[in-house]
Amino acid sequence: MATILSLSGIRKQFGGMVVLDGIDMGMEAGRIYQMIGPNGSGKTTLINVISGLLKPDAGSVTFDGTDITQKGLFDTFKTGLVRTWQIPQPFRNLTTEENFLVSSDKNRGEGFLAAPTRSRWRHDEEKVADKSSEIMEMVSLTGQGVVWSRNLSGGQQKLLELGRAMMADTKMILMDEPIAGVNPTLAHEIFERIKRICREQKITFLIIEHRLDISLQYAERVFVLNRGKIIAEDDPDEVTKDPRVVESYLGE
Ligand SMILES: Nc1ncnc2c1ncn2[C@@H]1O[C@H](COP(=O)(O)OP(=O)(O)OP(=O)(O)O)[C@@H](O)[C@H]1O
Ligand SMILES: [Mg+2]
Repeated sequence: MATILSLSGIRKQFGGMVVLDGIDMGMEAGRIYQMIGPNGSGKTTLINVISGLLKPDAGSVTFDGTDITQKGLFDTFKTGLVRTWQIPQPFRNLTTEENFLVSSDKNRGEGFLAAPTRSRWRHDEEKVADKSSEIMEMVSLTGQGVVWSRNLSGGQQKLLELGRAMMADTKMILMDEPIAGVNPTLAHEIFERIKRICREQKITFLIIEHRLDISLQYAERVFVLNRGKIIAEDDPDEVTKDPRVVESYLGE
């Protein structure tokens, strides 16, 4: 299958502290990848670099055939690479449905030049509304449309983040701890939804997650990060047997 995301020699330091120390990774389209590693090993920093929030000090990021190393967060988003946050960031003063609508990349009617030509954008708005209800169903939020997003439960806010990430022409979603603090039933539901979205929409996932009992049932391939280096890449049932992984992450 085609490579969708590849990292080569990614290096990042904060002051004198090297946080990412020469990361090489390759991911194929349409699969679910997981990244694990101890607290402070550099996982979120790596997602920050991939998604354009931070620029690496060295190395390159190639997404879907384009070098995106120097692109910022918004330009990266426009290429179809979307991220979610370790702490969910809904627009708190909007309803669930409004959160979906404003996350679309097709909101043309709000523009100064487009606004007077209603016939040109009305069709787009209808399409956005249809897409929004379809995605709300996909992430089990049908019925929550008029609820203020700040009043959703923690787990529902994670589902909202997942859904919002799909409102653009999304090819890949980077997720930072999508089931942290979520009860096991809802955690499984979130991963079931991710699996279905991956299969049906052909969206690739890279997911940071510590809760291995649940997440390893869904991931197809696992990267292990330790002190800024990838120390292992394996299938989920193999990775937990790898002595380097046990020593750095799972060991007592
Ligand atoms: N903006 C920053 N400025 C300075 N140091 C930072 C910054 N961001 C992260 N760090 C440091 O980089 C290291 C890696 O942090 P990072 O958040 O990437 O870890 P992580 O693997 O996501 O950890 P966790 O599992 O706890 O979320 C930590 O030591 C952290 O303090
Ligand atoms: Mg983190």
